[in-house]
Amino acid sequence: MPVLGLGTWRMGENARRKPEELDALKYGLDLGYPLIDTAEMYGDGGAEEIVGDALAGRSTRPFIVSKVYPHNASRAGTIAACERSLKRMRLERIDLYLLHWRSGARIEETFEAFHKLKSAGKIGDFGVSNFDLDDMQDAAELDRGLNGTNQVLYCLSRRGPEFDLLPWMRKRSIPLMAYSPLDQGGLLRKASLKKLADDVGCTPAQLALAWLLAQPGVVTIPKSSSRERVKENFAALQVKLTPKVLADLDRAFPPPRTKQPLEML
Ligand SMILES: NC(=O)c1ccc[n+]([C@@H]2O[C@H](COP(=O)([O-])OP(=O)(O)OC[C@H]3O[C@@H](n4cnc5c(N)ncnc54)[C@H](OP(=O)(O)O)[C@@H]3O)[C@@H](O)[C@H]2O)c1
Repeated sequence: MPVLGLGTWRMGENARRKPEELDALKYGLDLGYPLIDTAEMYGDGGAEEIVGDALAGRSTRPFIVSKVYPHNASRAGTIAACERSLKRMRLERIDLYLLHWRSGARIEETFEAFHKLKSAGKIGDFGVSNFDLDDMQDAAELDRGLNGTNQVLYCLSRRGPEFDLLPWMRKRSIPLMAYSPLDQGGLLRKASLKKLADDVGCTPAQLALAWLLAQPGVVTIPKSSSRERVKENFAALQVKLTPKVLADLDRAFPPPRTKQPLEML
């Protein structure tokens, strides 16, 4: 799976902002972003429609990730939700299809539906989102082949998953897809990050993303509706972090020393 993608939360919510959002996604694809993350929830289907518009007429397309709402994730509901997402994006297949969060879903039914969708070629693989370690253990017991991803809130200012979830996933070769890598912009206002970014010679957003990208088994999906920031974030792939910078980041944003329940937005 590609390690850097475009997020789409908050897209498709307001018709007036659609041209800017579509332009940012198309520009990101032209730059070479290899993955788009979306969900039926975002803009009530509006984000998936913008993704469909951004993909239209392209000879190659990026890796597509989308998600089913838990309240739709029954045996039949998952299949119907996937069909609706495919239609909105005008695609034959979603590469990775996730259960958006666990609460309210009967995961045995969801996984059964995921397997049917996979056999029918409508999804390439499946995974989960917002699953803490105990949820992952339940999921892995139900489905020993589960290795698509677990998409969770993880960034420099929210390092909780490093204590137990990330090591457990690494051991099983399950990639962790870090959402809100910029803490929705909040992280970028931290003076300590700004200072370290100046030392490295990059922007705070690039440093926050490069820190995630430096970690084995971690994928990330920053969202931006601006061409400039889409370009800025893409250049994080070129930022190489020395052991000294990583140690400075650990001092400014200490890793967890005890279990912290998984946070969710
Ligand atoms: N599975 C889940 O439950 C879940 C939950 C949350 C998010 N997600 C996924 O993860 C993606 C990313 O998370 P997110 O959208 O919550 O937050 P994020 O990517 O951490 O931050 C997005 C915010 O930061 C701003 N921004 C982006 N690049 C910037 C830069 N270089 N400099 C300054 N500001 C910048 C954006 O504004 P502009 O648009 O104006 O640039 C936007 O307000 C989502 O879009 C979604 O696809 C999944």
